[in-house]
Amino acid sequence: MDDKVIIFDTTLRDGEQVPGCQLNTIEKIEVAQALEALGVDIIEAGFPISSPGDFKSVVEISKAVSNPVVCALTRAVKKDIEVAAEALQQAKRKRIHTGIGTSDFHIRYKIKTTPEEIIKRAADAVKYARKFVDDVEFYAEDAGRSENKYLAKVIEAVIKAGATVVNIPDTTGYCLPEEYGQKIKYLRENVPNIDKATISTHCHNDLGMATANTMMGIINGARQVEVTINGIGERAGNTSLEEIAMIIKSHHDLKLRTDINTKLIFSTSRLVSTLMSMPVQANKAIVGRNAFAHSSGIHQDGVLKNRENYEIIDPVEVGIRESSIILTARSGRAALNHRLELLGFNFGKEEIDDIYHRFLYLADKKKEINDEDIRILAGVVFQGEKSLKLDLLQVSCGKSLIPVATVGLKINGEVHFSTASGNGPIDAAFTAVRQLISKTVHLEEFLIQAITKGSDDLGKVHIQVEHQGKIYYGFSANTDIITASVEAFIDALSKIK
Ligand code: KIV
Ligand code: ZN
Repeated sequence: MDDKVIIFDTTLRDGEQVPGCQLNTIEKIEVAQALEALGVDIIEAGFPISSPGDFKSVVEISKAVSNPVVCALTRAVKKDIEVAAEALQQAKRKRIHTGIGTSDFHIRYKIKTTPEEIIKRAADAVKYARKFVDDVEFYAEDAGRSENKYLAKVIEAVIKAGATVVNIPDTTGYCLPEEYGQKIKYLRENVPNIDKATISTHCHNDLGMATANTMMGIINGARQVEVTINGIGERAGNTSLEEIAMIIKSHHDLKLRTDINTKLIFSTSRLVSTLMSMPVQANKAIVGRNAFAHSSGIHQDGVLKNRENYEIIDPVEVGIRESSIILTARSGRAALNHRLELLGFNFGKEEIDDIYHRFLYLADKKKEINDEDIRILAGVVFQGEKSLKLDLLQVSCGKSLIPVATVGLKINGEVHFSTASGNGPIDAAFTAVRQLISKTVHLEEFLIQAITKGSDDLGKVHIQVEHQGKIYYGFSANTDIITASVEAFIDALSKIK
């Protein structure tokens, strides 16, 4: 049996369903790109028929990532499947995830039909989805409370209809680990064509057993796990990605592996937590504030003698700095490079020099530079030389003043200047930029975010502009929010060919 456990991330679908966790398209793209860097195999990007916003997000995520398979959820309904296929059109690798309830509760009281009719609808949905994509996953909703013998019949039928992955959700989080493991084992032993599909786990955490159940599923032969960052998801949440990735990495005895770059776990956790305004509980395994904090004297003494006395995971492995070395304006290149490496970046000397230069500039304005700042500084370098670059920005604004901005824009190496007024400093600066470029663009989305709460902190700006029916995305971060906005606008413009 293959030793690779496929990581199917549903932070942007099951996770995003949580009240208060909704993200806009730009934020979803940011999370999807972080998930791609983290090394997930599949990103469940949304449920396209559920809303125009979800549809748009699946379209944009399909364009924004290259390596992971992009997956869209549907019910076992033709229209859902058609809409999902349309949303996935631009994905390099795509999957439709369709399904229906298979427990007595769902058949009798939710869908109000017969077990035979469920099998027919399930197989028809898979067959229909296969007309659009080669990769079709089937979910048997509430499989945790479904009778094993009947579940086996459903699974056999959907594999025959073309399902490549069969998902066995413990939708209500009811199963005991032993019971869930036995369910997977039963399916492996009693579904004649099971070798033609991958079995997937999808466990909810209502009784705090999601991770244990997922592990029992893997031990009994599942090779895909459906997980979310920080374990967010419906009610008590889903299985958390970081827990499964680190269990597999720590337990060599299991002889399993994932493609997760565990050094990016902590930063991804914080990105999702910040964007979704969903704090991570302090004692959360792997990513909680206290996960590697030792408070009792006996433990501190033991850790100082040998870290492994009280730590089974080296915090560096999940991207947490091994000690609290604070980066400030007095830090050197070596400290900066060390932190970059902990965050999973590997740069050459010239790139480090460039980042260090930006780092000092930022450190002069902020007292401490945190990991999010470093990721942004590194991200700017990744983008390389651009055809358009902000060279100068001067704004005057204030109460009873007409906002005026002067912009110096480097276009293919030559600086051009323009001045304009507007209803605010950003509007004035954008108008000045527009006067220097020959293209007509419409601002589609404009999002300003403070990274943490300090007034000296970096502000991040995400922008989407439309030009001749196509959307272009721009990003920048700066302690000066007007500069960040203009840079993000120019970043988007520079991508128009
Ligand atoms: O929990 C569940 O059953 C689900 C399915 C839609 C896969 O989220
Ligand atoms: Zn779920």
